[in-house]
Amino acid sequence: MSTKPQKARITLVGCGKMGGALLRGWVDSHMIESAIVIDPHQASDLFSDNKAIEFLNTPPKSYDKGSDLLIIAVKPQILHESGKEIAKTLPISVPILSIAAGQNLTSLGNIFGSSRPIIRTMPNTPASIGKGMSVCVSNANTSSAQKQLAQMLLETSGKVEWIEEESLMDAVTALSGSGPAYVFYLIEMLEKSGIELGLPPEMARILSRQTVIGSAALAEHDPDIPASVLRENVTSPGGTTEAALRVLMDGRAQNILTEALIAAKQRSKDLNS
Ligand SMILES: NC(=O)c1ccc[n+]([C@@H]2O[C@H](COP(=O)([O-])OP(=O)(O)OC[C@H]3O[C@@H](n4cnc5c(N)ncnc54)[C@H](OP(=O)(O)O)[C@@H]3O)[C@@H](O)[C@H]2O)c1
Repeated sequence: MSTKPQKARITLVGCGKMGGALLRGWVDSHMIESAIVIDPHQASDLFSDNKAIEFLNTPPKSYDKGSDLLIIAVKPQILHESGKEIAKTLPISVPILSIAAGQNLTSLGNIFGSSRPIIRTMPNTPASIGKGMSVCVSNANTSSAQKQLAQMLLETSGKVEWIEEESLMDAVTALSGSGPAYVFYLIEMLEKSGIELGLPPEMARILSRQTVIGSAALAEHDPDIPASVLRENVTSPGGTTEAALRVLMDGRAQNILTEALIAAKQRSKDLNS
């Protein structure tokens, strides 16, 4: 889906880690025509220079200035209560973009109205520095223009993909949603192994972290080269990398990773049911 830059009138509910990072990206990309930010304790001083943003502690009585999209970025446990309050005054034509984990389109429809356009997205933490992966799914009420608007806003925080089948969201959550934690664990494991091999701890810490940073940057630099080819590029026949990969690629690591993703997928399913 390609998007043309445009300015949007948005309402943001919840201006914490994710909501705040998204708002920062939209402000920096000059995408906001006007914004209402609803959060009981938000740090409005972070955006005090921006006259287009109005900060409220509770939902407004009306949305008379117009809102092209309302973004939900509160914790899932308070979504029901705060959502019901918002739904009382929000015109049914205003689409919802929810980043709340574990809230499917049906439960969002129950809160905000089943005839409302609703987009559910699963971002991940690198979104806070513009390197995120967001995966979206929408209900049947959502127009392609509304999806484009959501895409445009989410692209400020990284890549955006769409799925047709909401049931895939559990697998998405298991891979890209929880995925940053697996990569951080890889850094931890490399560090631990380096220490076991005799490296001073501080050296092992620097080497493991920078190796993952550099490899990710290489993968980003050459997006069309498959990871397997990037791997082969550092593997000379009879060399050290080949010796390591013979151990690493005997199937056990792949099986463990698949097992881990299956556990995350199941947990996502349980949380959604
Ligand atoms: N952080 C992540 O990596 C991540 C990744 C993917 C998805 N998400 C989703 O993003 C959502 C937000 O997560 P987060 O980490 O940004 O949480 P967060 O930092 O706690 O932000 C939530 C914000 O909502 C505010 N809030 C509480 N009650 C409210 C209400 N009734 N109306 C409006 N705002 C209210 C909170 O204020 P107080 O702090 O004063 O209560 C806080 O500022 C969650 O649904 C989460 O599942 C987060």
